[in-house]
Amino acid sequence: MRNLWSPLNQPIHDWREKRVWIVGASSGIGLALAKALLEAGAYVTLSARREAELREFAAQYPKASVVAFDCIDPQIWPSVLDATVAAMGHIDLVILGAARYDPTNSWELNVEQVEKSFELNVVSVYRALACLVPYFLARQSGGIACIASISAYTGLPRALIYGATKAALNNLVETLYFELAPKGLNVYLINPGFVETPMTAANDFRMPSLISAPRAAAHIVSGLERGQFEINFPKGFASALRLVSRLPYRLRFPLLHKMTGL
Ligand SMILES: NC(=O)c1ccc[n+]([C@@H]2O[C@H](COP(=O)([O-])OP(=O)(O)OC[C@H]3O[C@@H](n4cnc5c(N)ncnc54)[C@H](OP(=O)(O)O)[C@@H]3O)[C@@H](O)[C@H]2O)c1
Repeated sequence: MRNLWSPLNQPIHDWREKRVWIVGASSGIGLALAKALLEAGAYVTLSARREAELREFAAQYPKASVVAFDCIDPQIWPSVLDATVAAMGHIDLVILGAARYDPTNSWELNVEQVEKSFELNVVSVYRALACLVPYFLARQSGGIACIASISAYTGLPRALIYGATKAALNNLVETLYFELAPKGLNVYLINPGFVETPMTAANDFRMPSLISAPRAAAHIVSGLERGQFEINFPKGFASALRLVSRLPYRLRFPLLHKMTGL
């Protein structure tokens, strides 16, 4: 019987029979997560565009398989879902993490980048869900996790495009939870802070509370095991930004200027 303090999703006690599909697994957080889950004993299918990198990594683990594809192909999802099911037998958890990041100020707006970012970070997630939700509902079990970002909490300098895509994800994953949790599915919203990956390598500003990709993966695995809905980290920075995002705008904006130095 669930009470106010129960986890919002079913806790995971043992990964050894779990089948996890990670989309965006060729580098950074996705790759570190694949390594952590394989080392915990899970079956993992790795997806991204760079097939050679995925295969080289997967060759080290008997429970790893690869389905390489480009997420923005509008027709691809039904066939890659079938390929992943064929590789592992079924899927218990999918982690959608493929994304692009175009740090942009409002005075250097490039609409082509906006379109590409929304296409990958948001529209491809909807396309995935159009296949995954019926799949998991038919099985009456399973979990869907989306990697968004704590930049979704409030408007931030240079996050004009990226922050908006991740805010969209936060909203859509909340709706997914509302609708799918009562049907027995698990839904997770993963909101990382700054993580050292190829995505952030070109950032020319100080990244507060920056953590490594293996550290980020450990936070995610622990959040999944505990059945959290929102898995945000690192805790201090994520909580501070969340708190700032709840302040009235006349306090929030000056504070954010001070925090970011921008
Ligand atoms: N790093 C951070 O500070 C940070 C903070 C908050 C949230 N996040 C989020 O965490 C997730 C992982 O990011 P990361 O930092 O680990 O970056 P990353 O190392 O650049 O990883 C991005 C992954 O997405 C894949 N990908 C990109 N475009 C794709 C496409 N069209 N089709 C299929 N796969 C595609 C990439 O593989 P291929 O190039 O091989 O396709 C790669 O595996 C993203 O959702 C990101 O927004 C990161």
